[in-house]
Amino acid sequence: MSESMAGLKRTHYCAEINESLLDQQVVIMGWVQHRRDHGGLVFIDLRDRTGLVQTVFNPQEDPATHEKSHDVRAEYVLALVGRVRRRPDDMVNPKLPTGGVEVFIKELRVLNEAQTPPFIVEDHADVNEMVRLRHRYLDLRRPSVLQNFVLRHKAAKITRDYFSDNGFLEVETPVLTKSTPEGARDYLVPSRLNHGCFYALPQSPQLFKQLLMMGGMDRYCQIVKCFRDEDLRADRQPEFTQVDLEMSFVSQEDVMEMLEGYISELFAKTLDRELVRPFPRLSYDEAMSRYGVDKPDLRYGLEIVDIGHIFQNSRAQVFVDALDKGGCVRAIRAPGAGGFSRKQLDDLVGFAIWLGAKGLAWLRVQADGFQGPLAKFLSDEEKSRLLAELQAEVGDVLFFGADSPDMVAHVLGQIRLKLAEDLSLVRPDAYALTWVTDFPMFEYDVLTKRFEAKHHPFTSPREEDLQYLESDPGRVKAQAYDLVLNGSEIGGGSIRIHNSDLQARVFAALGLSQEQIREKFGFFVDALKYGAPPHGGCAFGLDRIVMILAGAGSLRDVIAFPKTQKAACPLTEAPSDVAERQLLELGLTLDKSLES
Ligand code: AMO
Ligand code: AMP
Repeated sequence: MSESMAGLKRTHYCAEINESLLDQQVVIMGWVQHRRDHGGLVFIDLRDRTGLVQTVFNPQEDPATHEKSHDVRAEYVLALVGRVRRRPDDMVNPKLPTGGVEVFIKELRVLNEAQTPPFIVEDHADVNEMVRLRHRYLDLRRPSVLQNFVLRHKAAKITRDYFSDNGFLEVETPVLTKSTPEGARDYLVPSRLNHGCFYALPQSPQLFKQLLMMGGMDRYCQIVKCFRDEDLRADRQPEFTQVDLEMSFVSQEDVMEMLEGYISELFAKTLDRELVRPFPRLSYDEAMSRYGVDKPDLRYGLEIVDIGHIFQNSRAQVFVDALDKGGCVRAIRAPGAGGFSRKQLDDLVGFAIWLGAKGLAWLRVQADGFQGPLAKFLSDEEKSRLLAELQAEVGDVLFFGADSPDMVAHVLGQIRLKLAEDLSLVRPDAYALTWVTDFPMFEYDVLTKRFEAKHHPFTSPREEDLQYLESDPGRVKAQAYDLVLNGSEIGGGSIRIHNSDLQARVFAALGLSQEQIREKFGFFVDALKYGAPPHGGCAFGLDRIVMILAGAGSLRDVIAFPKTQKAACPLTEAPSDVAERQLLELGLTLDKSLES
């Protein structure tokens, strides 16, 4: 049965039905959440985007309508006409915004029927994620899922308004384009009109936004889809959305100030939270030594402290060995970890070894002294200096890493995150922002034995480091900055190179030949020669920001139709086969021997 809406116009959303409408006639439309038969009365909870309202069918009111209400099932789509009444005192539901009223129905139209859904459409239903994603249109009807999209819409609106108010122009950049180096694999699209040639979907609009600055746009912002074929994690999707922006005639400080204004506005208008400005800052080197990562979670302490100097002449061989090899010894003080079981400590050691460490020495600080594998090798002086420098107290456990600085940072950085979890140090409503600045310009890749751009090759080195570009590239720092929120990189940007000679020097430092530069970036290098203004900018990951604002655990919760770990869409079953004819048109043949 499927009836027409003709002659009916919705007067209210479900959640708008309240005491101010008593005795008025309303027309509501939505989905059936529940139907309950109580003696002669039938109750139907109707749901729309805004929430639920209880409706009542009374045989005395309209016998035919009452009769019809018996056939209604969950997720049927209804149009209901009725009168708003106060609920009897004992029927008031204080948990529901509409819980003080109900609608007495005189007309029911079944606009559409629904098969029994594969899961109950309600917040607390425990449903396998694959099933939810395969039927995402049902999943989206669940209030908590839907709320994430209301928040996402708000965030996008605040973004557009903020940048527009600050003089930014929204300009669209191409999706069928040429590769932009952001460090991931490209998604390629074969060209029908140019056999053997491919477009790349943009990993970011980086080159186009710089060309827009060269085109005199002055300030640009775009909420834009980006595509990266990389291994997926909870905070990565193959297609994701950036808030991408660029400004001309600005310094790093100017850009950061503009971005702090943006993030503060987002927090104020979505969570009603005032952020303290300016945001804290850490240099990359400081972040790596104190937190072991370039995106430190500052919701808690657990800082990594260098203590190598205490052990110059120690009997603790693992420490001395590391120092002799030019390495370091660093420690984390975990307050209150004295209560950890031996198994918990062994698990942490196992985790460190899995991460590549040779071990993870630990010491329990007890009233009667230290306890742990290395305790007997430590002199009294070493013990008292440890206590003083780590400000350790009884009940703490100290964890040690001794190795090359990179390995110690890597291992203790991850141990720090694990300790925060084990010690429940993360408050759900805590937000800790920090800038990380002064990134290295290049990173040495031991496999290819070459320097690669740490951010991207259009980032400007710091002026004072230009002198080392050829002689010692590893020493050059960039005018690059990331914004980190709760240990997640939510945005990154830089001041760009606007001088074609400097751009050529950076490409050369990356080992690109003249031919490679011409082929990949010839158009861009040419553009730099026609009066490029000084410029800089940033891109935020909108999905990541919304995920954190929503308190969600995965990007999939804030993307309407997300992809799985295998970059597939369970709903449409993309990616999928194509017809032989389409391949022929594109001049492609498949190598079937490679199929898994
Ligand atoms: P970057 O590569 O750091 O910089 O990307 C900017 C921000 O985009 C988000 N992000 C992602 N979000 C979800 N899934 C992904 N796979 C993914 N990859 C990145 C992150 C990140 O901070 N063109 C430069 C920006 C610039 O220099 O202006 C760029 O793309 O939150
Ligand atoms: P070992 O001398 O290898 O038996 O190790 C003694 C203790 O030191 C054990 O608790 C190891 O987990 C720890 N350990 C070994 N190597 C290291 C290292 N490089 N850094 C930190 N702890 C280590």
